[in-house]
Amino acid sequence: MLYRKELLGDASPLSLKYTSSMEDDKLIACEVLEVMEAYVEELKDLRAVPEDSANRILRELENLIAEPGKLFHIEAEDVHEAIEIYLKEKLGGEAGYVGLGRSRNDHVAAALRLKTSRLLLKLLRSIAGFRRVLLSRASMSVNVLIPLYTHSQPAQLSTLAHYLLYLDEMLSDYSSLLVKTLDTTARSPLGCGPAAGVMTPLDRARMASKLFGGRIVSNCLYASGGREFSLNVLALVSSLLVSLSRVAGDFILFSLPHIGYFKLPASHLATSSIMPHKVNPVTMEIVRAKAGSVLGRFISIASIVKGLPSGYSLDLQEANKPVVEALIEAIETLEVLRDAIENIEVNAGAVERDIRIYPLLASDIAELIALEAGKPFREAHAELAKLVKEAENTEKLYSEIREAYNISLDPKNTVKRPVTGSPSPENVKSHIEKALKNIEEFEVELSTYSFLEKSRC
Ligand code: ARG
Repeated sequence: MLYRKELLGDASPLSLKYTSSMEDDKLIACEVLEVMEAYVEELKDLRAVPEDSANRILRELENLIAEPGKLFHIEAEDVHEAIEIYLKEKLGGEAGYVGLGRSRNDHVAAALRLKTSRLLLKLLRSIAGFRRVLLSRASMSVNVLIPLYTHSQPAQLSTLAHYLLYLDEMLSDYSSLLVKTLDTTARSPLGCGPAAGVMTPLDRARMASKLFGGRIVSNCLYASGGREFSLNVLALVSSLLVSLSRVAGDFILFSLPHIGYFKLPASHLATSSIMPHKVNPVTMEIVRAKAGSVLGRFISIASIVKGLPSGYSLDLQEANKPVVEALIEAIETLEVLRDAIENIEVNAGAVERDIRIYPLLASDIAELIALEAGKPFREAHAELAKLVKEAENTEKLYSEIREAYNISLDPKNTVKRPVTGSPSPENVKSHIEKALKNIEEFEVELSTYSFLEKSRC
């Protein structure tokens, strides 16, 4: 114990175990060390610490960055105290220079922003890669028919390309929202002290130059005590996972044996320990569940922060782990889903079967009848509903329609609906072209954050 000894004496094992963040700090230890290193360099530049002492301290920090595990044998309130204890063991009294103008409040905020920004950048890059996979698969699936469902009932005929582009547009929207949170998160709180700045004349922008590209959080109360970045990032990341869980839901539904439009690759399936026939869509089940656990982490952070007076409180310590874990899980989830989409097969036979069984073209036909005869759609809709009710099967239904209205639709042509956003090949082509350009521009925007990739962690 380093900090409390003089004032309060040693901590009781019970309360130390309860309040120490050492276990959770493993997730951010390397970033804490990188932040500390930038800080000591600033003290050295300011000549607030003798150069030799600063160099010795920096050398020890360098060793720790290579092996942060060394810190976790130390009994301490947190990794910040453990670093000071370690330095004191190695260097004696001169290690005490690192305490000048430094609060754990600005240091943990800096490490957490750094970790969050790095993971967020990784997530954004993997979304861009995912989008490229979607677009390339879509360009090969312009004519691959699949039924779309509404209310979990067969609804309209579409194509795999159209389905994949739905996902692409959704990911494009998430990208533009998430990159805004990267802008507000990738800023340095370092040098702000506990709540209102410090007397040491630290150059905050200079300190931010290495790790945060020179970007800083301006106000010190906000910098040291705010966790809006965690809230904002997780609000979006949990929404993203909720959206992706619907895709997992689609894959599970469409690969049910009695539907069977999709065949998931074997690597995404598992077997049953007792039922020899079972193939279970396990990766998609976990994707579906991860949306719940990531959402839970968002709720944890929001509940911890809610009503907390402004300025740092130890409550915030409990909000460190959820943001890191949620981002790691989101990155893994994207990877798994991307792999599934790259390798999923469409069973054309199952699709043809359902085109024969269900009148998936009924709404298209009703529209054409109304348009061609110039009659109110409601009338055409009612007439068709009657035919649907009376026809023995879909084949007979279509032949009655042909007789009564001289309309006969071929499934492949039906999907060429004229409105923007339909599965028509022109729409698909123009979406792909625009999306490719959009991804390129987005990747250029991401490259402005490449300072986050110079991590030694
Ligand atoms: N372990 C703390 C955290 O992760 C560091 C900040 C502690 N600050 C303090 N004044 N006790 O949030």
